Amino acid sequence: MSERPKQPVTVLGLGRMGTAIAGAYLDAGHPVTVWNRTASKAGPLVARGAVRAPGAAEAVAAGPLVLAPLLDRDAVRRALAPAAAELRGRTLVNLANCAPEQARELAEWAAAHGAGYLDGAMLALPRTVATSSGFFLYSGARDTFDRFRAALEVMAPAHWSGPDPGAAEIHNLAVLGTGYAALAGFLHSAAVLDAVGTSPETLAPLAAQWLRGMADFLPDLAREAASGAYADGVSTIDLNRAAVDALIRLGGAHGVAGDVHAPLKALLDRRAADGRGQDSFSAVFELLRAGAPRRTERTAGERARP
Ligand SMILES: NC(=O)c1ccc[n+]([C@@H]2O[C@H](COP(=O)([O-])OP(=O)(O)OC[C@H]3O[C@@H](n4cnc5c(N)ncnc54)[C@H](OP(=O)(O)O)[C@@H]3O)[C@@H](O)[C@H]2O)c1
Repeated sequence: MSERPKQPVTVLGLGRMGTAIAGAYLDAGHPVTVWNRTASKAGPLVARGAVRAPGAAEAVAAGPLVLAPLLDRDAVRRALAPAAAELRGRTLVNLANCAPEQARELAEWAAAHGAGYLDGAMLALPRTVATSSGFFLYSGARDTFDRFRAALEVMAPAHWSGPDPGAAEIHNLAVLGTGYAALAGFLHSAAVLDAVGTSPETLAPLAAQWLRGMADFLPDLAREAASGAYADGVSTIDLNRAAVDALIRLGGAHGVAGDVHAPLKALLDRRAADGRGQDSFSAVFELLRAGAPRRTERTAGERARP
């Protein structure tokens, strides 16, 4: 039986991510049309079989699926301005990191030009495109996501964050926020080890192993935060308060700044002062969201957004 022809794909923007993405589609046998503001960057991809469009309008006109791994919202609007009329009946996938409201604005702009829209957030590096190490988040109409899912998964495993076009950007920041805290903690610990005369490189495999184990702890924290039931947690406020305090003191004794952990220490101190020392570590969640509306106070429109 002959294979079904692969979906033609247009890639607007051949920076680090765009080049990796276009290459992944070429490797997977898709017809690929590319456009980049700096046209010379298309050369190596053309040598591998991509078609270089003379302008963004011609690139958009080449197929039903238009991917835009450009720098930011302004780059997307600038690149697509001369191609707006060609968008009708096609689907635009914005892969530039944007604020959620910018993603909603791009979705409205695409709809006004008769185009479908998905917002994408790439939790990957150029070298992890088309590997199982990265993944991409998408938001927008579920049927649009389903229609193109197979083609989108050439780039990375694809997850749908919800119908609000801003949802992928929100979830992207939420995942990055988790990672940044861990990475900043790693750098603090590396500085402590360095200060006591041990190479920070010895820390990397140990911290990586610990992080893999801690990944299994996340569903417990999420369940406790969602339910507000903090009494049965295995890791208490008091226990973690003592550990964070010890870590800051150890660093301080060797001249290492405690800036990374001081905010967490302050939160744990507040919980202990509230008499919540035997609650789960996750009880910090309540302090963090204290200024946000209660779930029951949110409007139906807000509830539709994650
Ligand atoms: N690199 C990563 O590891 C990574 C990982 C995840 C997500 N991201 C996100 O992915 C997006 C692309 O990142 P990248 O690393 O590929 O960026 P990059 O290498 O700096 O490439 C930026 C792309 O945007 C184009 N561009 C910039 N301003 C433009 C304008 N005004 N009009 C038209 N085109 C314009 C550039 O064109 P020229 O070639 O002509 O300059 C280039 O194609 C960003 O939103 C980034 O935050 C990046």
